[in-house]
Amino acid sequence: MPDEASRVWAEDMSTAYDEYLVPAVFQPYADDLASRVARHRPRVVLELAAGTGVLTRAMTATLPGAHITATDLNVAMVDVGSARVPTATWRQADAMQLPFGEASFDLVACQFGVMFFPDRPAAYAGIARVLTPGGHFLFNCWGPLVTHDVETAVIAALAECFPDDPPSFLARVPHGYHDEDLIAADLTTAGFDDVRVDTVELDCTGKSAPDLARGYCRGTPLRAEIEARADLAATTEAVGTALERRFGSGPVVGRMAALVVSAEVPGDRS
Ligand SMILES: C[S@@+](CC[C@H](N)C(=O)[O-])C[C@H]1O[C@@H](n2cnc3c(N)ncnc32)[C@H](O)[C@@H]1O
Repeated sequence: MPDEASRVWAEDMSTAYDEYLVPAVFQPYADDLASRVARHRPRVVLELAAGTGVLTRAMTATLPGAHITATDLNVAMVDVGSARVPTATWRQADAMQLPFGEASFDLVACQFGVMFFPDRPAAYAGIARVLTPGGHFLFNCWGPLVTHDVETAVIAALAECFPDDPPSFLARVPHGYHDEDLIAADLTTAGFDDVRVDTVELDCTGKSAPDLARGYCRGTPLRAEIEARADLAATTEAVGTALERRFGSGPVVGRMAALVVSAEVPGDRS
């Protein structure tokens, strides 16, 4: 389970995340998830762990006329997201304690957020509570680390910098929840049925190796792990150099894979 520090995006972490990681890593999956969401034709949508709003913006395009409430635990993310996608209603909210009434939404969406929830069956039960009977929960989560070329290379670069005590955030949290049976069991325990899981492989396309190093080292909770060990700027540069050795000095292209999950609240909950 993620620790407290793994859930924190503060101050300029959100802008580094938005500038260097969102276009390369998160936009392709936002387009995929938004098109899946649109197939259900929801009218009232709740987004959890919305970050800087990449899925929010994609859903705004695929769901004209729907009302979208976008939420995130971290105020620094909500500040950037609400500026980027002002047409959605934004508010700070912990997915573990949703501040909404029963049956308030007909769809809940969450892109690359559930891995951060400290108790997923409890979070899923709260999501089921705010969904209408027959409502849908759609989310994605990363496949095993080995399926993500760039993040595997970031981990290898950090292992070179810190051979005795390599940072573990990327392997432990974002890539720590990809067992399909466990995901299905967590959802079923929370009262969902009709659980479906697809594996979706897409390309990560970064502007450059140093930009991706800035995104991971400065724009994710990896930052706290680096700052506890060494100088952030020097480590970011070392990771950029290592990524350049692996991917070259121009744009970066790597494989990545995610599990895309949908589940339904039974139509009759009585
Ligand atoms: C990898 S980012 C994904 C953000 C966004 N969905 C995207 O695709 O760019 C993970 C997000 O989860 C949020 N988060 C972590 N724990 C959370 C919680 N308990 N409740 C709500 N959001 C949480 C973080 O603040 C962060 O914005």
